[in-house]
Amino acid sequence: MDRGTPIRYFDHAATSWPKPPAVGKAITGLLERGCANPGRSGHRLSIETARTIFSVRAAAADLLGISDPLRLVFTANATMGLNMAVSGLVRSGDHVITSSMEHNSVMRPLRAMEAAGASLTVLHCDKGGILDPCLVESSIRPETRMIILTHASNVTGTIMPVEAVAAVARERGVLFCLDAAQTAGALPISVEAMGIDILVFTGHKSLYGPQGTGGLYLRRGLEKEMTPLLKGGTGSLSEQEEQPLFMPDRYEPGTPNSPGIAGLGAGIEFVTENGVDTVNKKEKLLLRRFLEGLSCLKKVIVHGTGDPESMIPVVSLSIVGMEPSLVSQVLDEEYSIMTRPGLHCAPAAHRTLGTYPQGTVRFSFGCLTDEEDIDAALEALDTIAG
Ligand SMILES: Cc1ncc(COP(=O)(O)O)c(C=O)c1O
Repeated sequence: MDRGTPIRYFDHAATSWPKPPAVGKAITGLLERGCANPGRSGHRLSIETARTIFSVRAAAADLLGISDPLRLVFTANATMGLNMAVSGLVRSGDHVITSSMEHNSVMRPLRAMEAAGASLTVLHCDKGGILDPCLVESSIRPETRMIILTHASNVTGTIMPVEAVAAVARERGVLFCLDAAQTAGALPISVEAMGIDILVFTGHKSLYGPQGTGGLYLRRGLEKEMTPLLKGGTGSLSEQEEQPLFMPDRYEPGTPNSPGIAGLGAGIEFVTENGVDTVNKKEKLLLRRFLEGLSCLKKVIVHGTGDPESMIPVVSLSIVGMEPSLVSQVLDEEYSIMTRPGLHCAPAAHRTLGTYPQGTVRFSFGCLTDEEDIDAALEALDTIAG
């Protein structure tokens, strides 16, 4: 095991690393200045923490094309937001449409709702992980309540036809929920312009925030329909024993992760200062270099579209005759290259790709990756496959 080799981090789709230095500074800065309980006590430290949280809410709303920051609720991660949306809006007798490329954070809440009396259509994507929007339209029934879709696959990086699906949903009066866990900060998102009713994102991937942060956007009026998953103290309407009806308090009971949200604010600032388009352009160049290099390697099979224009930098591959877990282990121990092997919490995606049950080796990266990392990964794969 060579511990002297620099670490090449290719597990961005699980969580981004390294973080911009400002993220750690924002977290410790708030803790050191006096991280009091926001919206509760009324003293100046409490007000200051509440101000910090509001400024991050406003920055996140701005980045995601949401005109009213109060429509955005902070959550612990994307999983929490997805559970809130599914369990709060889908009832027994409702029908939901999703794709075969979803993460278990979508699939498991949906399967639980199915067991509780809702019905589910899982639309089969092709071997590239591509969804045909016409399938969505033809699957809508009178009782269809929601279409829920990942923005980009966490297995193949394939970008879904979000705008086409949103248009169908709007036309047919069905709720459209987008899981932007892999794309917030990596692809331009304009929630209102794209016709998204519910957006869920995580803070610790392409927004470069710490783990334990994320959010959910809810279109105006949906708070009358979405039952809160958690109920509790909000610091507002304390004389009432029922959950407040207004946003964001309705869905933010309990003391928030204020230090984490401060860190997320610094991550969002990093993305905003660089510009999502610039980040995207840099990531595409790296992705193209990686895919071109992979195409020259014998015994390496790339799953998904393999087309940098239709994907984010998440690349699943197999080496003929080798278990993904062994490949990842050798990459870590011999080359200090961090990847993820297996099913990546998306078994249906692997059934779609034909990589179930062994899974794949996933290389995922962000804008802090460089060409040297890409070349080192290609060289290591060449040696391992050879
Ligand atoms: C597409 C997708 N959805 C949801 C999630 C869940 O995100 P979190 O772990 O932040 O809850 C992930 C995490 O990898 C993901 O890739």
